[in-house]
Amino acid sequence: MAGKIITVAQQKGGSGKTTIAAHLAVAFSNLLGRQTAILDTDPQGSLGRWFMARLERTGEPDSDIDLRTASAWGARYEAQNLAKNNDIVIVDTPPKMGIDGRPAIETADLVLIPVAPSPVDLWATEPTIDMARAEKKRTLIVLNKVNSRARITGEIVAALKKLGTISADTMIGNRVTFASSMGDGRTVLETQARSVAAREISALAREIADALNAG
Ligand SMILES: Nc1ncnc2c1ncn2[C@@H]1O[C@H](COP(=O)(O)OP(=O)(O)O)[C@@H](O)[C@H]1O
Ligand SMILES: [Mg+2]
Repeated sequence: MAGKIITVAQQKGGSGKTTIAAHLAVAFSNLLGRQTAILDTDPQGSLGRWFMARLERTGEPDSDIDLRTASAWGARYEAQNLAKNNDIVIVDTPPKMGIDGRPAIETADLVLIPVAPSPVDLWATEPTIDMARAEKKRTLIVLNKVNSRARITGEIVAALKKLGTISADTMIGNRVTFASSMGDGRTVLETQARSVAAREISALAREIADALNAG
């Protein structure tokens, strides 16, 4: 049976697509024991750079996670190829993805949409939701960079609900370690395994795994 494809998409740059893609890849691979691959379709190649740093760190020719890159139009083909030999394929996408981003959405079992709690991020989210709906894809919003006490978070969650979308129960906090852990190819799961940040990512991975199994 083919593996599940999770496409991380959001028109807004800086919402945390790449950060969440890398962290989820390590969570699925190392915590949940799934054979995991990542597919970088962003020409900026941030996820690919993270992966190369990961390889360099271990000095091994192979990593626990597999990486491929693809252009926007090649995303569907590459993702489906990877799904033949992996349980989980995580597709990272560029910001400002237009109609050319459709193959990455088309091929997804789940479209994961990171949203930072700000009105600007909320506005940028609607085109991604629309694109996923047009393809009849399941979507899951994940609130990222959350400052738990800020009132805006509740307001954005309510506004997202009005759009008829499902938000993950797990929110990802605004924590410097998410950024700093990635420099040498790791994630918070490896640099601070017992941190709140690590707990958040493992909870999110479990929630997504359950959603994929249920679907
Ligand atoms: N939960 C978080 N807490 C703190 N910083 C974050 C978090 N998620 C992402 N970042 C930082 O925000 C910036 C943008 O994240 P990135 O994953 O590159 O977004 P995107 O891929 O959507 O453009 C990066 O500097 C990243 O380290
Ligand atoms: Mg990115």
